[in-house]
Amino acid sequence: MKNNLFCIEGKVVVITGGYGILGSQMAMYLAEEGVRVVILGRSKEKGEELEKKIKSNGGDATFFVSDVMDEENLVQNREDILNKYGKIDVLINAAGGNMPGATIPPDKTIFDVEIDALRKVVDLNLFGSILPTFIFAKAMVDHKYGNIINIASETSFRPLTRVMGYGVAKAAIANFTKYMAGELAIKFGDSFRVNAIAPGFFITEQNRALMINPDGTYSDRAKSVLAHTPFRRFGESEELLGAIHYLISDASKFVNGSILVVDGGFDSFSI
Ligand SMILES: NC(=O)c1ccc[n+]([C@@H]2O[C@H](COP(=O)([O-])OP(=O)(O)OC[C@H]3O[C@@H](n4cnc5c(N)ncnc54)[C@H](O)[C@@H]3O)[C@@H](O)[C@H]2O)c1
Repeated sequence: MKNNLFCIEGKVVVITGGYGILGSQMAMYLAEEGVRVVILGRSKEKGEELEKKIKSNGGDATFFVSDVMDEENLVQNREDILNKYGKIDVLINAAGGNMPGATIPPDKTIFDVEIDALRKVVDLNLFGSILPTFIFAKAMVDHKYGNIINIASETSFRPLTRVMGYGVAKAAIANFTKYMAGELAIKFGDSFRVNAIAPGFFITEQNRALMINPDGTYSDRAKSVLAHTPFRRFGESEELLGAIHYLISDASKFVNGSILVVDGGFDSFSI
């Protein structure tokens, strides 16, 4: 008999930041694997466009307008998802990002950082995962099953220059992932798991300005990333899909509190 360790068909998977570069790749892939995908995001237009695209490929997807910083909105999302699908199996916290005032250009120092922007970036990248986790985990606990996947980063382990606020929050996401892995399993049992993936460097909207010069060439920062990556290239967003599939599936049933690094060797490399 064929085993079904990697079968994820029929699972209800909610993705915050669902039409972002990484989120939308995951949404499209998971729908092809028979997952019922719930796309959350702030723009109705972008969300509905992705929902339509997935449906036109024969997949099951639903979009709801959602701001990960708005508790009331998230509670409404939870009710809407339960009304439609009756359960939430998996939450992928893929909303996140940076903003100019919170990053430190090479000719500036931390004394030039805009504190309000810094606070917003920390809030988005930390509370933007904490709030959905708390709110959707409630539905998971009621249903006696739950699986949460956070998106950490290289800067969860070691600081990257220029992106202090983002790094502080992503380091906290690594800790939060492990904390919640213990918390949910101890209180509610072994059908609850919390893990993270730590993507290396992928060119997406949130880092394009840091990596690509206006004339299309690589920035000095991009060159230094590549020099520090044994694969000597950036990742392609579809290269995260295997890790996501694995963490959703029963193949990782005993994996709890892990941070799965997908980075062409960046994190393990020195010189
Ligand atoms: N691209 C990379 O190299 C890389 C590396 C490591 C980690 N990550 C992380 O992966 C995740 C996805 O990022 P991405 O690269 O696809 O970037 P992206 O900018 O394409 O996607 C992020 C999404 O989050 C959404 N978002 C921002 N604020 C929100 C809010 N308040 N409510 C709801 N949605 C909101 C954005 O609109 C966007 O759709 C982020 O957590 C990011 O930090 C990315």
